[in-house]
Amino acid sequence: MTPSDVKATLAFSDGSPSMDLPIYKGSVGPDVIDIRKLYAQTGKFTYDPGFLSTASCNSSITYIDGDKGELLYRGYPIEQLAQHCDFLDTCHLLLYGELPNAQQQKDFHKLVTNHTMVNEQMQFFLRGFRRDAHPMAVMTGLVGGLSAFYHDSTDINNPQHREISAIRLIAKMPTLVAMAYKYALGQPYMYPRNELSYTANFTHMMFATPCEKYEPNDVVVRALDRIFILHADHEQNASTSTVRLCGSSGTNPFAAIAAGVACLWGPAHGGANEAALNMLEDIQKAGGVEKIGEFIKQVKDKNSGIKLMGFGHRVYKNYDPRAKLMRETCHEVLEALGLENDPLFKLAMALEKIALEDEYFVARKLYPNVDFYSGIVQRAIGIPVSLFTAIFALARTVGWIAQLNEMIADPEYKIGRPRQLFVGATARDVKPIGQR
Ligand code: SDX
Repeated sequence: MTPSDVKATLAFSDGSPSMDLPIYKGSVGPDVIDIRKLYAQTGKFTYDPGFLSTASCNSSITYIDGDKGELLYRGYPIEQLAQHCDFLDTCHLLLYGELPNAQQQKDFHKLVTNHTMVNEQMQFFLRGFRRDAHPMAVMTGLVGGLSAFYHDSTDINNPQHREISAIRLIAKMPTLVAMAYKYALGQPYMYPRNELSYTANFTHMMFATPCEKYEPNDVVVRALDRIFILHADHEQNASTSTVRLCGSSGTNPFAAIAAGVACLWGPAHGGANEAALNMLEDIQKAGGVEKIGEFIKQVKDKNSGIKLMGFGHRVYKNYDPRAKLMRETCHEVLEALGLENDPLFKLAMALEKIALEDEYFVARKLYPNVDFYSGIVQRAIGIPVSLFTAIFALARTVGWIAQLNEMIADPEYKIGRPRQLFVGATARDVKPIGQR
């Protein structure tokens, strides 16, 4: 980060001594005002619940321009990665900063493939859950549980441990998600088939059974691989910030990623794709397109507590570029699977059109985000709604790890420990119970 010639001067109207604050420039995007010495020099904290104006770190991994609707992974536009690369290439890019050359691609794919199996004990861990447990409850447990099996790679400060746990997590997430799915179905687990590509292997573990030969469907594999690429990383979102804060205590990588899984589950975050699809199904059941007006009215009524799930974003105040790519994937997949008249897709496009012309959404710069269309694609390729967020977690694992490793490798990093504005009771004495 480059010091700016411009300084910020903090002055106080009560004549307290003013303070100069350094400003730093990144390679692109907003400058930052360095407040690290503020408390020591003024005895005051900044106040920013929800971190609307706070940069928690400096990073070289992902850049988002919310006004332009731009998303870059290590400088590459998401549109180009979605078109020219596969998910494992994207993993290599996010982890090491560069797209692989032919040899690196071969070596990386082989490395990941050789770690796709999980310890046989994991299946007994699953047995502790009810069969109808939400897959994200299962995934939070399984991912945290990985730290019980890999004592040889839990020292987050050891670069070799960080490398092998990154590969293990990327390689094993598909296996764990598929196991959670099979467990819910009461079907036997399918072991990975190492001759398949990463994403084809995932569809095999999800949809194959021991009773018959299973051939991965290219349309499904390509759609899922694109879904993985679009969900791989997204700057300092809630779950990534959770992973960074959790990892800053020096805990092992598996525990830190499990914290990210737990945070992603929320409907305001990764749980929105499940909530968006349920919302579309509810509107469909209530009468479909002609019921959109009534639904939009409820959304505008603050007391209803109803939000248009899959719309709005803290950073994007323009169309989420991933939503555009997801909508394209919707068209391709539905057409290829002969579902082009899917009523839910038509309903989603009608809802999007109406919302984008409605002053309420225009004034608040609410556009569809990545979650608005992803559920329709996943439903079309046979992924159950309850598994949508687990698929999001599978894809985001590489982003979480890349961000965690970037933090740990930064010699300046410290344990994250925010302060507060205390508004509670000041010191008082305990009275005997008879006087309370
Ligand atoms: C993801 O951070 C990331 O990068 C996340 C993510 C990633 O890849 O990691 O992109 C993935 O989580 C995408 C977001 C998925 N969530 C949803 O689709 C849930 C619905 N969206 C909202 O909950 C909301 O838009 C958020 C949480 C996404 C963003 O909320 P903000 O930035 O805190 O905005 P806000 O709640 O302050 O909203 C501003 C205004 C409010 O109205 P007013 O009080 O100004 O009158 O817009 C309204 C909100 O009520 N609003 C919505 C709305 N989202 C915001 N109104 C109706 N429907 C919505 N979806």
